[in-house]
Amino acid sequence: MEFNVRHEGLKKWVREAAEICKPAAIVWCDGSRAEYDRLMAEMVAGGMAVPLKKRPNSFLFRSDPSDVARVEDRTFISTTDPHEAGPTNNWMDPKELKTIMQDLYKGCMQGRSMYVIPFSMGPINSPIAKIGIQITDSPYVVCNMHIMTRVSRQVLDALGSDGEFIPCLHSVGAPLSPGQQDLKWPCAPIEQKFISHFPEDNLIWSYGSGYGGNALLGKKCLALRIASAMARREGWMAEHMLILRLTNPEGRQYHIAAAFPSACGKTNLAMLTPTIKGWKCETIGDDIAWMKINPDGKLHAINPEAGFFGVAPGTSYASNPMAMETLKENCIFTNCVQTDDGDIWWEGLDGDPPGHGIDWKGRDWTPASKETGAHANARFTAPARQCPVICADWEKPEGVAIDIFIFGGRRAGVVPLVNEAFDWDHGVFLGATASSETTAANIGDIGALRRDPFAMKPFCGYNMADYFRHWLDMGDKLGPQAPRIFYVNWFRKNTAGKFMWTGYGDNCRVLKWMCDRVDGKVGARKTPIGLLPQEKDLDLTNLQIAPENLRELLAVDLAAWRTEIQSLEEHFGQFKERLPERLARQLQELKGRLNR
Ligand code: OXD
Ligand code: MN
Repeated sequence: MEFNVRHEGLKKWVREAAEICKPAAIVWCDGSRAEYDRLMAEMVAGGMAVPLKKRPNSFLFRSDPSDVARVEDRTFISTTDPHEAGPTNNWMDPKELKTIMQDLYKGCMQGRSMYVIPFSMGPINSPIAKIGIQITDSPYVVCNMHIMTRVSRQVLDALGSDGEFIPCLHSVGAPLSPGQQDLKWPCAPIEQKFISHFPEDNLIWSYGSGYGGNALLGKKCLALRIASAMARREGWMAEHMLILRLTNPEGRQYHIAAAFPSACGKTNLAMLTPTIKGWKCETIGDDIAWMKINPDGKLHAINPEAGFFGVAPGTSYASNPMAMETLKENCIFTNCVQTDDGDIWWEGLDGDPPGHGIDWKGRDWTPASKETGAHANARFTAPARQCPVICADWEKPEGVAIDIFIFGGRRAGVVPLVNEAFDWDHGVFLGATASSETTAANIGDIGALRRDPFAMKPFCGYNMADYFRHWLDMGDKLGPQAPRIFYVNWFRKNTAGKFMWTGYGDNCRVLKWMCDRVDGKVGARKTPIGLLPQEKDLDLTNLQIAPENLRELLAVDLAAWRTEIQSLEEHFGQFKERLPERLARQLQELKGRLNR
């Protein structure tokens, strides 16, 4: 049924995809509750989804053990000129990649329905929003897209007969021959997985995976990789950033956008429960920010998503009570433990583990089992509107004006708790050199140190050096209205391997210092790496922390910083002559300050 479809280009693209993929049926999605319920009922009947007695309208899925995270090695930025993709992306020639993938797509949806999902990233009709259309053969993806994006008939109305949309073609890559029994989690082997982006055509082709960012194409593929390339062309920003509103006891509001690599606590920070009296935090987004300069000259941000796709292990009432409240109903859980009383469980949840459950691989599990019950990258998909601290303005079409940018990563050593940039260029340098120890959010080594500029290494849809230049240009355009820039590290460890900073709700103490800096109310100490608070500049009321930990967290170890220089030079070296001169100068100046 092609209801409301007045867009000839869209109809033609869908017809062509069907001719290649050969689905058994084409289903145009309307985003309705009835559609969600029907697909979930089919998946429950097929044994793919487990309804959870303890959480109304919530379901558990177990993925194939080979399909548990984003596959960065199989993710491509495909531009005619390889230099447009740059040294931090996998590149393939578009003709070659399209030929390989067209072959894979041939007949790939046999025996399955092809769903056409019209979705908006951002409130429909917001001046910052974009429309995408995802074709997929995975009903699991359709249900997740219902939560993570705005799927509805109104999107087709907004598209009209000639509006712009980003085509996103997805298949799990597991055709069914007549009578063949379906798998619980169909997907293709790793060497057939391709997560491909063609920024010159604003086009996304994904094949072979049903998991998270590989398959929910509105998220990383559209809202970051393709959007970042569009944003450069069109003069705006698409960033891997949470957005929150902090309100001080006098009622003054501050909007903060913060970039951290995957699984470094963005969701926790976005839903922070402040431990200092009178301060309030409200969530606007937990993963992605789209920002445009408003007619008022300030940088305004929207959250293009409509839900949270968060890492489950470690989420608890102790670490993130607001997330726990969000997860009570209408959620999808993937790769968590199924408990005998019809609930889910994961490592790090409050209280005792269940005596028995079914692990993410579908096997009996007890606390004595050798492996963890939930996969380290087990996820929840939850509607943002269910978050008790969702900001009343989270869907404001023009977004909120950003006052503060924060960059950060997970570093056991060297990097202090917080550091303010001297100015915009220095702030861009801090973002461009951000580093972190890797986590389970992507397939690969865990705990290895990597430079992850602006937390965008896996998500930048063009040459990272040109992305740095775009940040410098945006700063020039914003001038005195530009947000202030800070760098944080919540993850510093002592010699016994224990975290030194209390974290979670206490992070608001660091945010308060930033807000007071914006208002010129509090001091900072000038060091070679930036401006650091003195102990007296932080609100430490009722904070339980060992004095030696606090001292260490606010210290700058010059010798340790000098050892970073080589890795910074190697990092910048990869961009060759494309690295903006203003950033090369920042590195020279840092060296000079460290050796003075
Ligand atoms: C995510 C990620 O899922 O960054 O947000 O991996
Ligand atoms: Mn993310």
